[in-house]
Amino acid sequence: MTPHQRLLVIDFGSQVTQLIARRLRELGVYCEIHPYQHVTAGFLTEFTPQAVILSGGPASVMDGEPPFPPNEVFSLNVPILGICYGQQVMVKMLGGRVERGQRTKDAETRHQEAESVSATSTGGRVNSEFGRAYIAPKGVLPLLEGWFEEPTEQVWMSHGDHVAELPPGFEVYGVSAKAPYAIVADTKRSFFAVQFHPEVHHTPNGKRLLQNFVRLSGFTGDWTMGAYRDEAVEKIHRAVGDAKVICGLSGGVDSSVAAKLVHEAIGDRLTCVFVDHGLLRLNEAEEVVGMFRDHFNVPLIHADESELFLSELRGVTNPEEKRKTIGRLFIDVFRKHAAAVGGAEFLAQGTLYPDVIESVSFSGGPSVTIKSHHNVGGLPEQLGLKLVEPLRELFKDEVRELGREIGLPGRFVDRHPFPGPGLAIRCPGEITCEKLDILRNADAVYIDQIRRHGLYEQIWQAFVVLLPVRTVGVMGDGRTYDYVCALRAVTSVDGMTADCFPFSHEFLCETATRIVNEVSGINRVVHDVTSKPPGTIEWE
Ligand code: XMP
Repeated sequence: MTPHQRLLVIDFGSQVTQLIARRLRELGVYCEIHPYQHVTAGFLTEFTPQAVILSGGPASVMDGEPPFPPNEVFSLNVPILGICYGQQVMVKMLGGRVERGQRTKDAETRHQEAESVSATSTGGRVNSEFGRAYIAPKGVLPLLEGWFEEPTEQVWMSHGDHVAELPPGFEVYGVSAKAPYAIVADTKRSFFAVQFHPEVHHTPNGKRLLQNFVRLSGFTGDWTMGAYRDEAVEKIHRAVGDAKVICGLSGGVDSSVAAKLVHEAIGDRLTCVFVDHGLLRLNEAEEVVGMFRDHFNVPLIHADESELFLSELRGVTNPEEKRKTIGRLFIDVFRKHAAAVGGAEFLAQGTLYPDVIESVSFSGGPSVTIKSHHNVGGLPEQLGLKLVEPLRELFKDEVRELGREIGLPGRFVDRHPFPGPGLAIRCPGEITCEKLDILRNADAVYIDQIRRHGLYEQIWQAFVVLLPVRTVGVMGDGRTYDYVCALRAVTSVDGMTADCFPFSHEFLCETATRIVNEVSGINRVVHDVTSKPPGTIEWE
């Protein structure tokens, strides 16, 4: 258990629960998300949270057996904040009354939309609110310090049911047009409950509310990357002892930070294996090898297996077949090179917190596989190795901060995510060396443009897709018959949903001109403006 002050987020299945944890971590507060089914009285005693947040969720406290936390949560004598469904849970369990919203089918749809952070308008029926709403104050509450500098505060609502009567000890501190109990509190017990979602960006002052909550709960902000680094190194040391560790470097930020941290802990007993599948970006392999082997002196096997991958991918056009072929070869190749290290007992992986959080499934059924993601998840069983996962408690942005803390170059740490199957899934249709070269060069020009215009940090991911289409063009006095490429750039919080990045027309025209002029093999550039959903970020 971490030695830090701990906040417990009890998850009732909201789509945005992870954002609560992200906001708290940004405030220097260590918190963990646990599904309500796991939170028993015994768990609470062991976890000893210094404060608790009850998340939102799709259920109704009016249902037959609604998801509730154990009663003991209210006798921990710690501050509690209920959010949306969490507010209704708190009100119902403490003796107040909740009424069912009159939901039409239309409102139900809007609820789902709003839960996926895409709704912008207010709608629904009596007392239901979906999307933007405005709260007016009623009385003074320390939780709301810094709020109401304007007469109202914009918040983001997504509720059908609503509070109809407060439990003993509670009072109202904020109201909206349709929520007379938008902010309620029992200040004696430090129980706070809000009908809206303070954790989402659509509640612009939401972080301030969470900051007030953790301040009132006595958190000192002891969760820093410096402290995390020291503890992680110490933990690796203890877990690994005198054993050897291998680490699969992908060239991405997560595996690089994990490798650097393990190297700090055990030195040359770590060997990294970098499998170059021939599907990397321009100069990527050289950069990774240069940084790890030459600069950081980490023992590194550079396995250039590009010929193997490209020959196995010859003629493969189906996206799933591409992904599965790459996944299978990767495991084989990694296993071969790992065996050459000899005697390794551990495998270091850059698993992140979002991969570990057990989300609450109310449908119970398995979700549809949109794409078979390539990762090294199958490796530990195949290799019979124990795992070292020093980033299991971190979100992506925290990994970046840690990367900077341990001395990885900023330009490397801030790089956009890159998928395991690499350029294979950015080259629809058959993959050839010629196409990969064209794609690499176009991608390099595009990213250079984005950096020159100071846009790189505003974008979650930007890349070129080479289409399996040739079109006619004219250059100089001659006819060309070359490939078309598409420019993709999205904003996103976690890659689960994404919006198209709004480039200016001038930027797009300048970039298209540069690509057509500087990259031989491309004579036409198009712009992909699809959001996710309904599109996905990658094309395959
Ligand atoms: P999609 O295309 O599913 O992508 O919207 C969401 C995010 O995941 C990345 N991605 C992958 N990452 N292995 C990975 O490690 C994969 O197989 C893979 N496929 C997609 C994608 O780049 C985006 O950031």
